[in-house]
Amino acid sequence: MARHLITSALPYINGIKHLGNLAGSMLPADVYARYLRQRGHEVLYICATDEHGTAAELAAKDAGLPVAEFCARLHDTQKAIYDGFSLRFDYFGRTSAQQTVEITQHFARRLLAEGFIEERTVRQVYSVADARFLADRYIVGTCPHCGYEAARGDQCEHCTRVLDPTDLVDARSALSGSRELEVRATKHLFLLQSKLAGEVEAFVDEYGKEWPNLASSIARKWFTEGLHDRAITRDLEWGVPVPADTWPELAAEGKVFYVWFDAPIGYIGATKEWSDAAPAGEHRDWKSWWYDADTTVRHTEFMAKDNVPFHTVMFPATQLGTREPWKKVDYVKAFNWLTYYGGKFSTSQNRGIFTDAALELLPADYWRYFLMAHAPESDDSSFSWELFSSVVNKDLADTLGNFVNRVLTFSRKRFGDLVPSGHAAGEPEHRLGTEIARLLTEYEEHMEALQFRKAAFALRGMWSAGNSYLEEKAPWLEIKTDSEAAALTLRTAMNLIHLYAVVSEPFIPVSARAMREALALPDDTRSWMTTEEATALDAVPAGTAFTVPPVLFAKITEDDLAGYRERFGADDA
Ligand code: MF3
Ligand code: ZN
Repeated sequence: MARHLITSALPYINGIKHLGNLAGSMLPADVYARYLRQRGHEVLYICATDEHGTAAELAAKDAGLPVAEFCARLHDTQKAIYDGFSLRFDYFGRTSAQQTVEITQHFARRLLAEGFIEERTVRQVYSVADARFLADRYIVGTCPHCGYEAARGDQCEHCTRVLDPTDLVDARSALSGSRELEVRATKHLFLLQSKLAGEVEAFVDEYGKEWPNLASSIARKWFTEGLHDRAITRDLEWGVPVPADTWPELAAEGKVFYVWFDAPIGYIGATKEWSDAAPAGEHRDWKSWWYDADTTVRHTEFMAKDNVPFHTVMFPATQLGTREPWKKVDYVKAFNWLTYYGGKFSTSQNRGIFTDAALELLPADYWRYFLMAHAPESDDSSFSWELFSSVVNKDLADTLGNFVNRVLTFSRKRFGDLVPSGHAAGEPEHRLGTEIARLLTEYEEHMEALQFRKAAFALRGMWSAGNSYLEEKAPWLEIKTDSEAAALTLRTAMNLIHLYAVVSEPFIPVSARAMREALALPDDTRSWMTTEEATALDAVPAGTAFTVPPVLFAKITEDDLAGYRERFGADDA
């Protein structure tokens, strides 16, 4: 059995994430982790908030809070939302934690020792009034291309052109507004990626064979352009400090590492946080996952496509350059964009649905199922309220929820609180069992291949097969002539409910639990079904007590739909 290390791109701390962020990283990672745990694998699912960089500093400033306090609050806020979505991390850490700080500094020292870090003098904007060098984003001015007056020194948000701070007209400090800016010489650390290019390319050639095309093609593009040396320090107040023992001068100037240098190291740091947080008597060994790890550790990363270069090229270069045996990524599951009516979900423009608002509206399972069944895997995928409500109503409310309720309610009315016995299974039951076993095999294959849309489709197929069976057998008619025949149908249907509870768990864990708890099985430790068990459909014996759970999924009405469209805006893309 493999030991599965699963990570999802670390969400930026700067605000509450929208559904698109969830759909391309944390949610599929959770679905996959749940599936693997059910199949008996050892799984470690690690995530954290990505807390450094200008975005965090600026957001804290907007909120009128010291950065450390802002980050602590937003970390808790985000964590609570992810709990609400039933994301079951083994640990959800923070890149500002001491563990990540120390490991980042260790990486930098190793890279220096191996000749992959160099100090270089660059000319940079210095603000006299603020008495500090300004990171590019901390300089605002008028865009020379489009005339937008609040363009930032790295990029114009209006025309999206990439800028150099010296391009700006009427440049001023974003911190104080001061125009008293000078260009001065200062030193920064550079990671000599050019020296590592060959090795990184060999890594991508070897490991990337297995990755989905979306990931490997993005990685390869970087080698055709050549891998350039990169500045890995910044002038910011908040970040991992450049260690003073190694670089006293830079440390004295208050330089910190660039956020993309420490963020991926945060995967390792958060794993160490997990180790350090072990309850008394439990030993957790973070190093066994990351350092000189045995070959059974398989690391799968989940991310949106804009993150791919950092994970397939820059971070592997950083790891390789230490000359230490750090575990590298085995499989990169990259996603395209989830759009909102074909347009961008945008945090800055407040378009789309944020994760907190989504949870206020409807239970997590509705979102989880929709987002996975329409995962932006082979292409971008578009969210619309119309599509969302039709999927919720058809797949969840009609096909699954209604089945569960109808079967249990009818059986209780006719046969009481125990699973009825009835005739032995006949031809329709064998046919059903064969069909379910076929779909289960398909489902497993798609899950193993991390093809979530296809897996969701096979899952829905199992739900539909139950409906077809019920329509064919029509126990409400059978009961009139042969109650033992109706009993067989209901007992078989209740076995399906149990099977659904098991196999739906990765996608809709809360509803799966409700289904499972409806049936009082004496020793229900089952975590999965073999195809033989699925074929037999007899895990729930006659005489098992059951209860009828509250309606599993409420339908979204036309009125609800109109309300959502109005509140969130439905055609502004
Ligand atoms: N915060 C980044 C984003 O949202 C992702 C960082 S992934 C990490 O795009 F590995 F670098 F942490
Ligand atoms: Zn512009």
